[in-house]
This record gives sequence, structure tokens and C-alpha cells, in this order.
Amino acid sequence: MDKSIHHSPLAFRATGLALKQRIFSRFTFKKPRIVPAALAVLVQSLSAVAVFLSVLAVGLFATMHFSTFSLVLMQALFAMGLCVLAGMASWWRWIHFGFPLGLWGMSMLHMPNEVYLVGFLISLSLYWTTFRSQVPFYPSRPIVWEKVSELIPSDKAIHMIDIGSGIGDLSMHIAKTKPYSQIEGIEIAPLPWLISLVRAYLKNSTAIFKFGDYHQLVFSRYDVVFAYLSPAAMPALWQKAQQEMCAGSLLISYEFDIPGIKPSFCIESIGKIPKIYVWKM
Ligand SMILES: C[S@@+](CC[C@H](N)C(=O)[O-])C[C@H]1O[C@@H](n2cnc3c(N)ncnc32)[C@H](O)[C@@H]1O
Repeated sequence: MDKSIHHSPLAFRATGLALKQRIFSRFTFKKPRIVPAALAVLVQSLSAVAVFLSVLAVGLFATMHFSTFSLVLMQALFAMGLCVLAGMASWWRWIHFGFPLGLWGMSMLHMPNEVYLVGFLISLSLYWTTFRSQVPFYPSRPIVWEKVSELIPSDKAIHMIDIGSGIGDLSMHIAKTKPYSQIEGIEIAPLPWLISLVRAYLKNSTAIFKFGDYHQLVFSRYDVVFAYLSPAAMPALWQKAQQEMCAGSLLISYEFDIPGIKPSFCIESIGKIPKIYVWKM
């Protein structure tokens, strides 16, 4: 080994820099990775504490009566402010503002408890692990099904999967337009999956719907993987696709691209319908 490299000013600076980084990494705190839903619960809880402390503080100096509505409004405003401080996405401000007011409004209507239970059960079976995956259910439109179908060859049978198949429209459309191909959908939320299963049966569709998590699939089995997920899911999806998909297979994503990874080609947006991104592996 050439010892002069070790003693050169450059090597000296590099060693100093590495040492500095090591020292700093010990004393700097990493930003905790907390999912937005958990952060939202934290924001509302801290706002409740802030309301309580504010009422106590005001009580020290004056005798003041707060109406329920004014307390609720304070909660909404504190939550909105904390949401901004926590750096949550802008739409969360309105959710934080509307949530306490919505709760208050609902309590004014004196609805029976069963209504809340049914609402909770429907939301749970529809959105299931969305709080963790950050991929909620919202269906794509017929124009998207047609554009995706055009990407699939008609002259040979292929194996395709819609990861997060919702209520199954895209898969059933492709199964109808490409009858020789094998089309599957996998869905993690029980209600959309059940609806897709019943609809496929009633429509006599050849599309197969599985209940489960696409992370557990092996992508090498598929010639085409279609995804309509969310920006949060895309980096991990790319990692999985890169590791498992075979050369020549297609990864198609509607609306969401993969940061830093140039698609092979795109289908440009049509009116308000966003782009479709295609990566040839
Ligand atoms: C935006 S919807 C798309 C529905 C359908 N692909 C369409 O085009 O109409 C995304 C779906 O992915 C599902 N999903 C989210 N994470 C999933 C996972 N890890 N495995 C399977 N499905 C998932 C959600 O429950 C949701 O129904």
C-alpha cells in the first residue's frame, strides 16, 4: 500500500471529515419515522392537552365560562397549528380542523351508537391497513382500463396482476379484452376483495381475485404488474420489481411515478386523467 496517500493533505481532510461525521451521528437525533395516521392521533391528543392547559391558565386570572363549542373550536385550531408544525401534508390541516367540529356536530344529532359502530366496521373493512400502507381504496376509470389493455399484447397469452385490485374493474376489463391471458388481482382490504369476487362470479369473468398482501407475491411469475397505489408505496415497489421481475416484463403504474427512475415510456394524461407510467424491466 502506498503510505504517501495516508499522509497527503487530502487523505488527512477525508479522515477528519469521517471522524466528524461519526461524532455527529452519535449526538444528532434521527427524525422518527411515524406514519401519518399515528401522527394525526398524536396531534389531536396534544391539542386536547393544549386546550386543557389554556383553560387552566385562563382560570388563574379570570372567571370565565367556556361553551362546549368554543372548546371544540380551540381544539380544531390547536390541531391545525400543530399539524403545520409537525410538517404534515397540507390536506391534513383541514382534516384536523374538521374532525373535532364533525364529532361535535354528530353528537348534536344524538345518533344511536350503532350508527357509529356500523360506520366504523364499513370503514375498517374498506380501508383496512391504509393507516400503515398509505394506499387507500379509490377506483380507476374506464379510460384507464382501456389504455392499460392497449399495452397488453393480443397475439400471445400473458400473466398479469393488478396489485391492489380494489373492486376488480380493471382486472375484469383486461380479462374480457384479452381472453387468452391469465389476469389476477390481489387485494388486502376484505370488503373490496369480497365485492370483486362476487362481481367476477356474477359477470362470469375469468379474472381471479386473491385476498392478501402483494408484498408476499413473487413478481417473477408475472409478465405485467399493474399498480394504482400512492406516492408512499412507489420506492418499495420499485425495489421489489427490480429484484423479482423478469427481463422484458412490464411494470405499469397509473398516476404515480417512481422518484428518480425514468420510465421507459408514458401514456400522457388525457384531460383530467393522469399519466400512465411504464417501465420495461
Ligand atoms: C387506489 S386503489 C386501486 C384499485 C384498483 N387497482 C383500480 O384500479 O381501480 C388501491 C388498492 O390497493 C389496495 N392495497 C393497498 N396496499 C395493498 C397491499 N399491500 N396488498 C394488496 N392490496 C393493497 C388498497 O386496499 C386499495 O384497494
